Amino acid sequence: MMVFSKRHLSQWILGFLLSSLPGLYGNTSFPDNVVVIKENVGTALLTCDTDIGDNVTWRFERDGLIEDVELGGEFEQVGRDLWVSEVLSPITGQYSCWFKGKRLSSAYLLLDAEEEYSDSLISCRAKSYSCTFTCIWNQSEYTAVRLGLGRNCSEGEKTCSWVAPLPDGEFQFELAHSLSPYEEESQMIHVTAEAIIEHTFFRMTKKFYLRDIILPDSPQKVTCQELGENLNVSVQPASSWSTPHSYFSLDHEIEYVYKDDGKSERSASPLIPKRISRLRVRSRDPLVLSAWSQWTPWKYVTY
Ligand SMILES: *[C@@H]1O[C@H](CO)[C@@H](O)[C@H](O)[C@H]1NC(C)=O
Ligand SMILES: *[C@@H]1O[C@H](CO)[C@@H](O)[C@H](O)[C@H]1NC(C)=O
Ligand SMILES: *[C@@H]1O[C@H](CO)[C@@H](O)[C@H](O)[C@H]1NC(C)=O
Ligand SMILES: *[C@@H]1O[C@H](CO)[C@@H](O)[C@H](O)[C@H]1NC(C)=O
Repeated sequence: MMVFSKRHLSQWILGFLLSSLPGLYGNTSFPDNVVVIKENVGTALLTCDTDIGDNVTWRFERDGLIEDVELGGEFEQVGRDLWVSEVLSPITGQYSCWFKGKRLSSAYLLLDAEEEYSDSLISCRAKSYSCTFTCIWNQSEYTAVRLGLGRNCSEGEKTCSWVAPLPDGEFQFELAHSLSPYEEESQMIHVTAEAIIEHTFFRMTKKFYLRDIILPDSPQKVTCQELGENLNVSVQPASSWSTPHSYFSLDHEIEYVYKDDGKSERSASPLIPKRISRLRVRSRDPLVLSAWSQWTPWKYVTY
């Protein structure tokens, strides 16, 4: 890094270290100990997590290079901790504290994005009123993302977890809540995502009621029974849907295609004309007026 070319105390390539770093390059985990600094004005405290006395040495690791931190200027060591302040060009990367050649702990110094980010990057969905729901972060340019309940992923609480991206670049998270499906929901769920792109740190919070993210899976089984000139269609809700179904009822919509002219119609009633070639069904929760599920695959019928 440019910033470090002016001080080159003890710089050497440490290829072996790279393999043990949760590096910020490629397919990585979210670093445990993240410290965020605002450009130009910020101050950050990097703590050395150890019981050993104060005589520790701080080093900086980035892009496979490791060098001693030169105290003075923007760096001040107080006891075993390191203050970083008023950096013109933030010296982001991994800092580690050492004692007698042993690496004690490390912290990632990242630059605060200082921007409001749209919460539309996070989309959440519950397949039922059970205790879990799913959130997707759909932006593959971020190298690491963690997500959890609450307004932030502050270190002490460790409420957020990270996942590796799926092959298409999405990050998908399973979250648990403790809301009762039998009570009126009065508190919004807060979901916070923290993401890193290059060496910049982003935080976003999204809030919603569970009822607003209910989206059933498509029905698991559709059967038809002849009834005079009609078909009586029975629909079995998705296995992921809440039970008992008498309490957690679903509305079903049937779409069918006439045999003779190929026209299609939709019906909210289970009774549909018999002279059709195929039909498909989707469901929604009428109580919260959820979005419709995906359609089932077409079912071909001959009567
Ligand atoms: C602290 O470390 C420095 C350099 O490694 C060494 O010279 C000094 O004796 C140490 N002091 C104590 C109290 O261990
Ligand atoms: C993710 O983003 C891509 C392109 O930005 C889009 O095509 C895709 O539908 C999105 N997926 C989800 C689950 O939102
Ligand atoms: C994170 O949340 C805790 C507890 O609510 C709060 O004390 C702290 O200031 C928050 N940190 C940030 C950076 O928002
Ligand atoms: C249609 O089928 C369901 C169950 O399969 C049954 O409960 C219902 O009574 C039937 N409707 C009519 C009009 O027969």
